[in-house]
Amino acid sequence: PGEREENETDKGLRVADKGFLNTAVIQSTITYIDGEAGVLRYRGYPIEQLALHSSHLETAYLLLYGQLPTRDQFRLFEKEVMHHSAVHADAETFFRSFRYDAHPMAMLTSAFAYLGSYYSEANPSLQGQTLYTRSTKAALENMDKQIYRIIGKATTLAAMAYRVRQGRDFVIPPPGLSYTSQFLYLMDHMGQEDYKPSPVLAKALDVLFLLHADHELNASCTTVLQTGSSLVDPYSAVAAGCASLYGPLHGGANEAVIRMLISIGKPENVPAFLDAVKRREKVLSGFGHRVYKTSDPRSFIIRRTADEVFKVAGKDELLETAMALHDAAIKDDFFVSRRLAPNVDFWSGLIYRAMGFPLDFFPVLFAVPRVVGWLAHWRQMMMQQGGVKIWRPRQVYVGAGKRDYVPVEQRE
Ligand code: ACO
Repeated sequence: PGEREENETDKGLRVADKGFLNTAVIQSTITYIDGEAGVLRYRGYPIEQLALHSSHLETAYLLLYGQLPTRDQFRLFEKEVMHHSAVHADAETFFRSFRYDAHPMAMLTSAFAYLGSYYSEANPSLQGQTLYTRSTKAALENMDKQIYRIIGKATTLAAMAYRVRQGRDFVIPPPGLSYTSQFLYLMDHMGQEDYKPSPVLAKALDVLFLLHADHELNASCTTVLQTGSSLVDPYSAVAAGCASLYGPLHGGANEAVIRMLISIGKPENVPAFLDAVKRREKVLSGFGHRVYKTSDPRSFIIRRTADEVFKVAGKDELLETAMALHDAAIKDDFFVSRRLAPNVDFWSGLIYRAMGFPLDFFPVLFAVPRVVGWLAHWRQMMMQQGGVKIWRPRQVYVGAGKRDYVPVEQRE
């Protein structure tokens, strides 16, 4: 309708980069990825070394503050995070207000925004817009307090979303457990006095958490920064990141992998499934990545972790199908020529399933550790020299040229 206008007339260079394939929006010192070589480093440390020697919380400190903590620094950090794991009793009513079968990611996303409403001291709309950009000691302490709170309460909120779906009461976070042991306890504690989460499962979950803690400017982290660039409070920014992570192209892929494997069923059905992918009728979930053009380095570590979990929890019946699919796809020209290799989600879902988590809880198990990366990037942005610039990209307008309003009775 009407003449088309190809572009706006205001001056300056504008690049149309659909999906941000070639656009860098920040300079960062947090995470390094070499997608060609399959390299991932947090603050310079190879992911393989961290997975072997570190823990999720120690890695969280590293991502947030740039250095591995000393013993004392770690003790203090862990104390702060774990101290903040309890949530206000009213949160019970909040979780019980959801439909009985609500997706736990819908609950978690809303819960982060809900949580922010408790902390007026964290809200730049109430406290002044330089709340996080001042580099005073008080401002930094305030910022870190919100970070401890969000990391500490993420597991508790996730466990509440888990239990409310099962019609079970909530559990108050007990002291003296590690981050992931406490999380397992909060979900599965059935009231036994001596209930102890399996150390093997807690360790496996800790490794998975560490591997998921950051991955630079993926869709959800970008969403957190974009939202945070308006100087909104970090709870709202994290809620926005959580919503972005929910999608099947991102954090929802671990859930999609299992649904795909269930639909394939037996290993002998793999060739027919791959033919359907080539006909563009299906997508091979857990394969392909915007940055990695070879195997995601995390997928090797996750594959090893899966074996540890299967020893305790039993082998997943879908494992054989997953292996047949993996082995066929990595040799198939369709995937090889497009450089589509397994990503972090291909194996992680099988571990979560073996651990007994329901399918729709898998993205939550991605979101909980990823709050660390989101907050590390948010903190970096708030502290950057010269303050925060609101993220306001431009478009290339290709719609109608100017036209005049036509009253409804004259329209044909
Ligand atoms: N199955 C089948 N074909 C695929 C897949 C896949 N998993 N991934 C990419 N392709 C194809 C595309 O159709 C395209 O083919 P074409 O060039 O013939 O049109 C080609 O490979 C290039 O892929 P793009 O879609 O351009 O790659 P992009 O970087 O935009 O997307 C993405 C990356 C979203 C991860 C994609 O590979 C995908 O959908 N994978 C499946 C979902 C998934 O596992 N997501 C998790 C990612 S990791 C994470 O978030 C933690």
